[in-house]
Amino acid sequence: MTQNTFSKVSEYIKQNEQRYIEKLRDAVAIPSVSGDINRRADVFKMGKWLVDEMQRLNITIKQHLPGKHMMDGVEAELPPIIMGSYGSDEKKKTVLVYGHYDVQPALLSDGWNTDPWTLVEKEGKLYGRGSTDDKAPVISWLWVIEAHQKLGLDMPVNVLMCFEGMEESGSEGLDDLIHSESTKFFKTADCVCISDNYWLGTTKPCLTYGLRGVSYFQISIKGPGKDLHSGLFGGAVHEPMTDLVLLLSKLVTPEGKILVPSIYDDVAPVTEAEEKMYETLDFSFKDVHNATESTNTIHKTEKELLMARWRYPSLSLHGIEGAFYSSGAKTVIPAKVIGKFSIRSVPNQDPARLTQIVTDYVNSEFKKLNSKNVIGIECLHEGKAWLADVNDWNFRSAATAIEKVFGVKPDMTREGGSIPVTLTFQEALQKSVLLLPMGRSDDGAHSTNEKHRPVHCVRNTKGADFPPNFPEVETTIEKGTLQHLEAYSGFKGEEKDLNSILKKLKIKRVFIVGFCTEYCVKATAVDSLSNGFETLVITDLICPVNKLNEEVVFTEMKGCGLKLIESF
Ligand code: BES
Ligand code: MN
Ligand code: MN
Repeated sequence: MTQNTFSKVSEYIKQNEQRYIEKLRDAVAIPSVSGDINRRADVFKMGKWLVDEMQRLNITIKQHLPGKHMMDGVEAELPPIIMGSYGSDEKKKTVLVYGHYDVQPALLSDGWNTDPWTLVEKEGKLYGRGSTDDKAPVISWLWVIEAHQKLGLDMPVNVLMCFEGMEESGSEGLDDLIHSESTKFFKTADCVCISDNYWLGTTKPCLTYGLRGVSYFQISIKGPGKDLHSGLFGGAVHEPMTDLVLLLSKLVTPEGKILVPSIYDDVAPVTEAEEKMYETLDFSFKDVHNATESTNTIHKTEKELLMARWRYPSLSLHGIEGAFYSSGAKTVIPAKVIGKFSIRSVPNQDPARLTQIVTDYVNSEFKKLNSKNVIGIECLHEGKAWLADVNDWNFRSAATAIEKVFGVKPDMTREGGSIPVTLTFQEALQKSVLLLPMGRSDDGAHSTNEKHRPVHCVRNTKGADFPPNFPEVETTIEKGTLQHLEAYSGFKGEEKDLNSILKKLKIKRVFIVGFCTEYCVKATAVDSLSNGFETLVITDLICPVNKLNEEVVFTEMKGCGLKLIESF
């Protein structure tokens, strides 16, 4: 892509930002919750919405209906897997992009500040269920195609698409489809790009080369034939809840150590190169504290924390079906309870072996209870961990593109989460798979007040290609002078006041990512949005210490420093 083409695409994207936000608003308004049988029609509606958008862009579409399945005792139709193809020039590389149009459930009463299905713009962020996981990333790919089309520009690559509506519920039917289409619809793919994970922090882009696997289990304990009164039968019967709580307590310690014997035996050993890699990452406890809105992390160092998330297994307890959980003081003995937990697995753990050792352990612990209740344990779904080679051309070219758009080399990261289909693509197509996250660590996927950021959304739309180098300017700002901005922007105004110059350059946001010294004064402009300068990333500038590493809006300057009044 030439400088000229890139400027045109950037300009188009900038001008259309509000329209992209409106499109995301339409998408978020469709509650496509795959895990809720009552929302199944909305998952289909969302699929149709996506197909309509794709058709508008003349993308060739093939839809696959995987058939029926059972959910909550009800038989239901699985939503379509939507395949798309745009361009078939043999001289170009072909990128296959994957994403999902279903979302997690959400209720206002879960603790959302606003209705989860109404996109709310607040302080530069877009709140709504599915905004970051995975609706904005999916539709961003379409806007890349649209921008080229509207501008009459040739796309630099052919694009194949695969969008599914069951990702949050185990991707039913997808593995089979990928295998069968690997020699048909997906045959020409040279590489795969998945945008369904998150930056390590909130300031620096990254590319991701590893995911943990997941094995999801449930233990059911059945006792009396019906719920009982604890006054009448407490002390007289084996209580299912008592057995279950005891068993769950044998799975993991409060420090996160899994108690299932031999579970750590297969974990890949740490290499010297890996040890070193952690030191180069732009990551601090603050990122996790910020994302979790707490300081209750287990580990002493950042490296230990990342290792615990990326390369060691973890076991989480999720809930108990059938237990009394409402407010009030119901004196019930539940007749049957089902405990849910999952294990995030890592290279070289084998899901079949995991299921075996977990089942054996739980059964043997249950035996020790001498309970007359009946136990059942099953693995509901499983997916293997994935690890890629960052030296693949796929990673190298993505890194070049990121560096050119963002002005920084991306960190190479792994993730604690799971996208089982990643490995399926790699194995079925025998092609390099890359994760290119568009969301940030504090977006709150699956959580209350999930959000995405519009600037970010726009940036990533651009990031799909190879723009020219942004000039990286590093100058010393003398107190009260502004050469760095002038050098960066070519701005030659009369103003000597930083605030009014920034205003004139339409810089709405300043992103401070560096150290602060009392009298500032080294500023490095490393990023901007085309010539509009909507965002300026500055390192080393005067700012209150508590605002470091935060995005800030400014309204007032003091000397050459910025007085930061509001964080968003
Ligand atoms: N987008 C996530 C995957 C993810 C989560 C990547 C966290 C990186 C960090 C995806 O939508 C998801 O939620 N995956 C499930 C997979 C499961 C249903 C098999 C997960 O990780 O729980
Ligand atoms: Mn996702
Ligand atoms: Mn998800």
